[in-house]
Amino acid sequence: MSEGLLTEIDHVAIAVVDLEAAIAWYQEVFGATVAHRERVESDGVEEALLAVADSYIQLLTPIREDSPVAKYLANRGEGLHHVGYRVADCGAALQAVKDAGGRVIDEAPRPGSRGTTVAFIHPKTSFGTLIELVQE
Ligand code: CO
Repeated sequence: MSEGLLTEIDHVAIAVVDLEAAIAWYQEVFGATVAHRERVESDGVEEALLAVADSYIQLLTPIREDSPVAKYLANRGEGLHHVGYRVADCGAALQAVKDAGGRVIDEAPRPGSRGTTVAFIHPKTSFGTLIELVQE
């Protein structure tokens, strides 16, 4: 059994149709501040990270029709998309999932936003929630 591989909640990702409207709502209602914005071309998304203590709310919107987030919005509408867990070693955490017989989306760690290294675990393995392992 693996112990202590998840060190913190890195981000909670929410898929939205109108990124500007979602950012404005968090700013106006909660006084949240945008810590980072990025277009991730490889994933077909634009994201805004709103700081909450040492974690983030990640607002995600698709920039292409073939983006997985576009498909998600079409099928399920806006809402919780995935949870990002911070890990010290993305490869080791991914291997722990594989060793346990889990299904992964990324066979190997890959570049994420903010210069992070990430890997996604299939929600069929992780009890219905898409999980992203995030190494800073
Ligand atoms: Co994420």
